[in-house]
Amino acid sequence: MPTPVTVSEQQLQTQFTYIDAVASLVRDKRPRAYTHTFGCQQNEADTERIRGMLHEMGYEMTDDVNEADFILFNTCAVREHAEDRAFGNIGALSHLKKQRPEVIIALCGCMAQQEKNVEKIKKSYPQVSLLFGTHALWRFPSLLYRVLTGEKRVFDIGGADDIAEGLPVLRKGGAKAWLSIMYGCNNFCTYCIVPYVRGRERSRRPEEIEKELRELVAAGYKEITLLGQNVNSYGKDLGLDIDFADLLRRLNAVPGDFWLRFMTSHPKDASPRLFDAMAECEKVAKQLHLPFQSGSDEILRRMNRRYTAAEYKQLIAYAREKMPDITLSSDIIVGFPGETEEDFAQTLALVREVRFDLLFTFLYSPRSGTPAASYEDNATPAEKQARFERLLRAQDEIVAERQAAYQGKRLRLLIDGTAKGPDYPFTARTEGNLLVCVRGENLRIGEFIEAEIEKTTLRCLFARKM
Ligand code: 5AD
Ligand code: SF4
Repeated sequence: MPTPVTVSEQQLQTQFTYIDAVASLVRDKRPRAYTHTFGCQQNEADTERIRGMLHEMGYEMTDDVNEADFILFNTCAVREHAEDRAFGNIGALSHLKKQRPEVIIALCGCMAQQEKNVEKIKKSYPQVSLLFGTHALWRFPSLLYRVLTGEKRVFDIGGADDIAEGLPVLRKGGAKAWLSIMYGCNNFCTYCIVPYVRGRERSRRPEEIEKELRELVAAGYKEITLLGQNVNSYGKDLGLDIDFADLLRRLNAVPGDFWLRFMTSHPKDASPRLFDAMAECEKVAKQLHLPFQSGSDEILRRMNRRYTAAEYKQLIAYAREKMPDITLSSDIIVGFPGETEEDFAQTLALVREVRFDLLFTFLYSPRSGTPAASYEDNATPAEKQARFERLLRAQDEIVAERQAAYQGKRLRLLIDGTAKGPDYPFTARTEGNLLVCVRGENLRIGEFIEAEIEKTTLRCLFARKM
C-alpha cells in the first residue's frame, strides 16, 4: 500500500503567504466570520482548522449570521436529511446576499466533494461564491484570496488523498478537544458515501499525533477524542510497526490528568488486542462506540460489513470480560433495502441481548453512487418507520434500567458545560461518556470531581459533588 502523501512544506508555506495576503486585504475592515457545521466530529475538526486560518487572517468569529462578512457551511452527505438542511440554510441566505452583496457565502465538506451537488450550486445557488471539497481544505487561504480579489465564483473539488500538517486550529475551548489521527475510509459499506467523498484511509504519523496531544494537554484540555472513520485500521498504510493498540499505549504515556476517547471503530478490525490495550491504559476511557448496523447476517453481508452478528457479540463479550463497567454505544440502520421482518427481529434481538447504553438509530437513506442505492427495496416507508419506532421503544426500556442502576453510585466526572436548570447548573460526563447534570460548590468547567448520583432519568444522571 502506498504511503500517504503529505502536503509539502513549500505548498503549505504558499498558503501561509495567502493568509498574510488576505490579512492585508481585510485588516482595516474588522471582518467577522460565521461557521456552521453539519455532520460528524471529523467535520467539526475540519471547521476548527478553517476557523484557525480565518483567525490568522484577522477575522473575528461571530454566532450571528446576519453580522458576518464571511459565512461558511461545512456540510455532510451521509443522509439526505443533512443535505436538505444544508441546501435550506444556503437558500435562506439569498436575501442577505441581496442586501449585502459583499458578503461571501462558502460551502465545503462532503457535499461539496460531489459533482452532482456542485452542479446544483452552480446553477441554482448563485449566492455561493466559494466552494471547496474535503481534499482542498488546506488550500482555503488561496481560494478565499481569489474571491476577495474579484473572481466571481471559485470552485475547487480537486486534490488527492493527502495530509496537511501544521495548519492553524481554533478550538472552541472548554474541556474537550478533537484529535484527528487518520482520514478517509477503505471499507465501502454498500450504503455509505464516505469513501467516495473523503478518499482512502491515510494515517497521520504517530509523532505528529503525540505532539498535538501534548499541546492539547498543556492547553488544559481534559478529554481528547481521537478521530477517524475507522480508527482500528490506524497505521496500516504507514509502513511502520504500529497499530491502533500501540498508538493508544504511546498516547497513554503522555503525562497529565486526562481522558482519551476514540471513534469510530469497525467490528471487523476491532480485536482482543485493542481491548487489552484499553484495559491496561488508565487514561483511555472505558467506553466503546462500535457500530453493528444490523443484527442479520444476510443484511450485514449485503452491507459489505465483513462480520457476523455472532462475531460482534464475541467482541462485546471479550470487551466486557476485560472491562466490566465499559459503556457501549452503537449505530444501527433500519430499513436497509431488502430488510425483512425476520432481519429486523434479529436486530432487535441483538439490541436486547447486548444492552447498549446509547444507540444512534438511522432510517436508511439511499445515496446515489453507492451500490445499495440500486438494490431492490420491498418494505414501505410506513413499515420502516414502524420498525424504527419499535427499536426506539425497546432501547428506551433498556436505557431506563441501565441509567437507574447508577442511583447512589460514586463516580469521577469531568465538568464540561453549563446546564439550563437552576438546581443542577453544570453538565458533566462520566468516564463512560454518560451525560450528568451536577450541583455543588465551586464547580468549574474542565475540572474532574468526585460525585454521587442522586437521581436518574432516560437522558441524564443527576449528581452532587462530594
Ligand atoms: N443511510 C442511513 N444511515 C447511514 N449511515 C451511513 N450511511 C447511511 C445511509 N446511507 C449511518 C451508519 C454510520 C453512521 C455514521 O451513519 O450507521 O455508522
Ligand atoms: Fe462508511 Fe463503512 Fe467507512 Fe463507516 S466504515 S465511513 S459506514 S464505509
